[in-house]
Amino acid sequence: MPSSDLPLFLSQWLRAPLRMGALVPSGGPLARALALQALPSRDRPVLELGAGTGVVTRALLARGIAPQRLVLVERDPVFCRLLRQRFPSVRVVQTDARRLVQSLAALGIHEAATIISGLPLLSLPFTTQHQVLRQSFRLLVPNGTFVQFTYGLASPVHPALLRRLQLTGRPVARVLLNLPPAVVWRYTQRDAASPPGESRAAA
Ligand SMILES: C[S@@+](CC[C@H](N)C(=O)[O-])C[C@H]1O[C@@H](n2cnc3c(N)ncnc32)[C@H](O)[C@@H]1O
Repeated sequence: MPSSDLPLFLSQWLRAPLRMGALVPSGGPLARALALQALPSRDRPVLELGAGTGVVTRALLARGIAPQRLVLVERDPVFCRLLRQRFPSVRVVQTDARRLVQSLAALGIHEAATIISGLPLLSLPFTTQHQVLRQSFRLLVPNGTFVQFTYGLASPVHPALLRRLQLTGRPVARVLLNLPPAVVWRYTQRDAASPPGESRAAA
């Protein structure tokens, strides 16, 4: 991340602290741990929610995700402008992640293999969390995964939502070299046809 991004990140945080959730962008080790959860071999889209200044985007590209597969979803117009400058071959969609399905349908995107979320899920209201996750799992293919990091100790998805949306979550990486240290969680949706407790095939 260029150090020149810090003042921009901070000024956007001052405007909307709950929507930003963090004072500084994710560090390289966290970005790489998130990017590891996306499989380069697939051909379906990989979505990044809350792309900010693009630190995770850069790690996804370095991981081998083709730019044409990557779709960045960001509601802040200042960040969207920056992302378009930095990643001219990646699609950037300026929208609220609560309207994911509709916004992506307008671009002809109806499914995703993996969704990497940089959204500050824990500081978003319960109804927003619900809408974002419901929309995300409408787009994810049956073995698709929703990946989210948190600075907290527990799952960043509210337990009531895990039950309501039939999600199974597990921590897949602990990143101590981040400010603050973070945990990466991976969520899948149990198949309606399979017995409770059994998740769809891992992505
Ligand atoms: C903690 S920052 C993460 C930025 C970057 N992914 C990183 O890891 O450094 C959260 C980002 O989510 C965006 N965001 C928050 N709520 C959103 C929403 N409902 N829809 C789309 N983007 C949102 C913010 O504008 C901000 O860029």
